Amino acid sequence: MPRLLVVNSSGRNTRSITRRLTGYFAEQWLVTHADGELIERDVTLQPPSPVNEAWIASAFAAPEAHSPVMRAILSESETLLAEIEAADALVIGAPMYNFGLPAQLKAYFDQIIRVNRSFAFDPEAREPYQPLLADKPTTVIISVGDGDLLPGGPMAELNFLEPHLTAMLGFIGLHSVEFVRVGYEEFQDKRLKSALESAEQAVARRAAAA
Ligand SMILES: Cc1cc2nc3c(=O)[nH]c(=O)nc-3n(C[C@H](O)[C@H](O)[C@H](O)COP(=O)(O)O)c2cc1C
Repeated sequence: MPRLLVVNSSGRNTRSITRRLTGYFAEQWLVTHADGELIERDVTLQPPSPVNEAWIASAFAAPEAHSPVMRAILSESETLLAEIEAADALVIGAPMYNFGLPAQLKAYFDQIIRVNRSFAFDPEAREPYQPLLADKPTTVIISVGDGDLLPGGPMAELNFLEPHLTAMLGFIGLHSVEFVRVGYEEFQDKRLKSALESAEQAVARRAAAA
């Protein structure tokens, strides 16, 4: 049975553009995958724990040395990684907050980017970092208040959201990433309307192909 992992991170439960579009993606994906199953991960309603001393000590200990306490500390990370591994495709809703990711989405990535689990590190190797997850189609739906921050726009150099997401996803093996972008949410003008229409078309196309 095909599975789609839907990750939402908008702080808004209502009026959210990214939630609306991840929902539309899931709806369209289910049209072409009638026997499909959704795995839903809402990092706003259930914020992943920030990593701390105990988490770091556990994550960086050799896996064969993991104690039951360490395994318990890493169980949240395991759950989140198991969801990615179980999925055939991913859709991630990522609003821009202060030029980058919402904190709860960053906490999610801090939990899933884990040495010896989602990436390997060998300081002696020519390529010290190797991703450990299998690639799968990943669609990231971005919404920004000011569309001038989107690629090609006059403020694009302040868009730290997309390069950061691309780097983190690729680091663990998710290379087949496509962004669907909505700009000008804060302007509520015709640019937003047209961005939403294009985004819906891109979502439908991508969901059918995923
Ligand atoms: C805390 C916060 C920070 C924001 N920072 C930015 C920003 O740096 N640049 C920008 O263009 N829009 C910014 N916005 C606007 C959001 O990116 C925009 O409202 C987007 O549509 C939010 O996604 P959502 O509709 O899924 O909630 C911010 C909004 C919030 C709530």
